[in-house]
Amino acid sequence: MQTIRRVAELKEAVSRFRAEGSRVALVPTMGALHAGHMALIDAARRPGTRVVASIFVNPRQFGPNEDLSRYPRREMADARMLAEGGCDLLWAPDVEEMYPAGFATSISVAGVSEGFDGAARPGHFDGVATVVTKLFNQVRPDAAYFGEKDFQQLAVIRRMVADLDMGIEIVGVPTQREDDGLALSSRNIYLDEGDRARAVALPRALGIAARAIGRGEDPVTVLDEARGTLAAAGFDVDYVSLADAETLGEDPDPSRPRRLLAAARIGNTRLIDNLAIEVP
Ligand code: PAJ
Repeated sequence: MQTIRRVAELKEAVSRFRAEGSRVALVPTMGALHAGHMALIDAARRPGTRVVASIFVNPRQFGPNEDLSRYPRREMADARMLAEGGCDLLWAPDVEEMYPAGFATSISVAGVSEGFDGAARPGHFDGVATVVTKLFNQVRPDAAYFGEKDFQQLAVIRRMVADLDMGIEIVGVPTQREDDGLALSSRNIYLDEGDRARAVALPRALGIAARAIGRGEDPVTVLDEARGTLAAAGFDVDYVSLADAETLGEDPDPSRPRRLLAAARIGNTRLIDNLAIEVP
């Protein structure tokens, strides 16, 4: 597997994939890879497809008080995992290559990016939409793979690709979890032993709430109970909400796909998770 750091070289390498008749699939990441990221690589791997992974810790999607400087960086280990996982090319530009002096453009997706993490993290989804647009234009993939773990991000990207006629197939991959149910995340390494043990309350509370809502119980009561359970487990709850799975509008129509979304802080670590509402 080749690692490339310059846009011009990336374009040549992708042209070679095209010349051999391959489809091109892109898996965007910020590195510190784990089995969640590798599930995306695995989903992208198909006969006749070349898989490009990107690693870029995107400063534009971090708020001023967020963890940009301490975000885990371990490209050597990541590159090894990608090569072993069947990735064909690693695109790892530095900040100057991605955002040269004078860079002035921002992509903003209204509506779907405004609630939940968009409200809690002003500018976050503009930063995501901008870098993902750049990655799409640099690689020009046929398909791109994103985790359902970041459900709002996936919804924002689907909206953007449709709105801007990007013509890229967006594939959502189910959330990969630890044995106890905690969603895999590069940020889980921030959890100390006690917080790690308490963190399991998040997927548990969501599972209980999602099943209750699926059975037809009153969402307002169920969501309140879930918030109470999380607070009792030591979480500082940001939101536990029910939303339309496509628009992320609140108070969703039960005849359409719905999603339960949550963000909560334990210790200094903010965790997010989400589950589909399945109607039995
Ligand atoms: P990052 O947090 O590195 O995640 C990269 C991709 O891996 C995202 O699509 C994310 O949803 C997916 N992912 C993370 N944990 C997962 C899990 N447990 N199960 C399944 N998929 C999982 O998301 C970003 O980077 C950035 O915002 C990015 C899209 C790269 C733009 O900078």
